[in-house]
Amino acid sequence: MYFGLVIELVYPEKIPSFQAIKVIKSEEFSMPTKIAAGNWKMNGTQANILELQSISTAADQLDCETIICPPATMLTMATRFSKKVLIGGQDCHSETAGAYTGDISAQMLVDAGASCVIVGHSERRKHHDENSEIVKAKANAAVAATLTPIICVGETLQQRKSGNAVAAVSSQLEESLPKSSKIIVAYEPIWAIGTGAIPSFKEICEMHDAIRALLFRTHGKNGQKISILYGGSVKSSNATEIFSATNVDGALVGGASLKSTDFVPIMQALSKS
Ligand code: PGA
Repeated sequence: MYFGLVIELVYPEKIPSFQAIKVIKSEEFSMPTKIAAGNWKMNGTQANILELQSISTAADQLDCETIICPPATMLTMATRFSKKVLIGGQDCHSETAGAYTGDISAQMLVDAGASCVIVGHSERRKHHDENSEIVKAKANAAVAATLTPIICVGETLQQRKSGNAVAAVSSQLEESLPKSSKIIVAYEPIWAIGTGAIPSFKEICEMHDAIRALLFRTHGKNGQKISILYGGSVKSSNATEIFSATNVDGALVGGASLKSTDFVPIMQALSKS
């Protein structure tokens, strides 16, 4: 999954071309953290805390970071039961406080014990009309509140079929990115979420390489440290292959993160990668 040497694009405007590269001394290299993140979406009540406990116990033995993003109602309880798991929100508002009924600010997530937050998930972009400008504002609000935003991007099936996936995801990501490099990026093809379908291994490599190249261009050397997760129908049966792809530093998992028996094997596959 990782290379011993880091490459830096000399002509980043040619992204994703790798024609012009220069090798940086390996001591300057800092690898992205391997992260297994679970997005519980609108699933889970207090009874599900037992799953979190099992995930936390398993996380203690493994060589990767684990994040669980439960529903907001479970956040405070989740932080108490998850010594080895970081807890995240699933969304935040870009404002710190005010007349926004039903919304949660990044500060409130911090107050509840969260250390990260998903922003720009395709379900938010679709059902709540969130464009990349809004997503960027949310990511900036998260950073300002000391949360690590997990910024989601992904192409539609039509964009994939017409050969525009890399271009679509690249421009979506560029429009959604904050200046801070204390972020996580999640590539989630919309057509792969909850469907059982996933891109080919080659397509995953191509997209993740393009995202890494973009992060080098936007964040300089710090772009090498940003974890890039793959999301969309990740299961224990496909995790090992996905984690062997270049620039895949982990996964954002929906359905298969709800049960520890499904999620722990994915964490184990990542730890071994
Ligand atoms: P899935 O969802 O793993 O159920 O496909 C992924 C996501 O939406 O983050």
